[in-house]
Amino acid sequence: MMILDGKRISDEVKAELAVAVRDMVARGERPPHLAAILVGNDGASETYVASKVKSCKEIGFASTLVRLPADVSEDRLLAEVARINADETIDGLIVQLPLPKHINEERVTEAVLSSKDVDGFHPVNLGKLVLGMPTFVSATPAGIMEMLKRYGIETSGKHCVVVGRSNIVGTPMSILLSRNSNPGNCTVTLCHSRTKDLASFTRSADILVVALGRPEFIKADMVKEGAVVIDVGITRLEDPSSTKGYRIVGDVAFDEVAPKSSFITPVPGGVGRMTIAALLNNTMLAKAQFSSNQKPQCHVN
Ligand code: GUN
Repeated sequence: MMILDGKRISDEVKAELAVAVRDMVARGERPPHLAAILVGNDGASETYVASKVKSCKEIGFASTLVRLPADVSEDRLLAEVARINADETIDGLIVQLPLPKHINEERVTEAVLSSKDVDGFHPVNLGKLVLGMPTFVSATPAGIMEMLKRYGIETSGKHCVVVGRSNIVGTPMSILLSRNSNPGNCTVTLCHSRTKDLASFTRSADILVVALGRPEFIKADMVKEGAVVIDVGITRLEDPSSTKGYRIVGDVAFDEVAPKSSFITPVPGGVGRMTIAALLNNTMLAKAQFSSNQKPQCHVN
């Protein structure tokens, strides 16, 4: 069994980006600039956005965090998106999800300029992904692909089972892994809440990607011996014994599944780290697109 070390690989990606930023600045260009809009004060969203901003600083990107109150009107939020869309000194814009219930997430996602949509959530970018065109690939699937690539994990001809069909993770992941690319060329099964006898599918997976949001749902008897296990889940469970008052748990019961797997991502320190690295990479691509009028490059063909 080998741990897929998201911290190590994301540090590698970030170091490469830092060198590229240094070269850019040495040529007299401004560094890439990421803006994030955070609505309200959900604890997990606060943590994610803080990590994104901190990572920008570490590698020399500029960043702007716009905080809006939980009761902000949709119009006010859309006005902020429009302001950032029009700001030529900002390359990438993310609106942290989830948004409060009174705000239409789809409307906000569509309002972000597709050329600044470094989350890859805009319908134009998701459409391009489906068609295999160069685009911003949403950060979690892009990060997982990068991790598979850097560990040299063979995917061609393998059966990949993706559990969870969200627009952000499960659906794009299933598309990327089924493509004629490397990583890719998998035979993909996409499972979801209506799948009957889920374990019969997960047990047949050479590569198992779990993005359910149900802590420690995947047990050892649901996994094939030697499988590659990618755990996308990040759930905060109350834990009075921890100084933070909570601990982070994945969708996979790590202690019992790890001994059966060939490769496995830990939580924390796995996919989450790669998501941030991929977001930074997308922001670099967004900047390159503005500088040279090139289209953003996709992670895969
Ligand atoms: N909420 C959970 N994951 C993400 C993400 O990757 N991007 C944004 N904007 N919000 C999220």
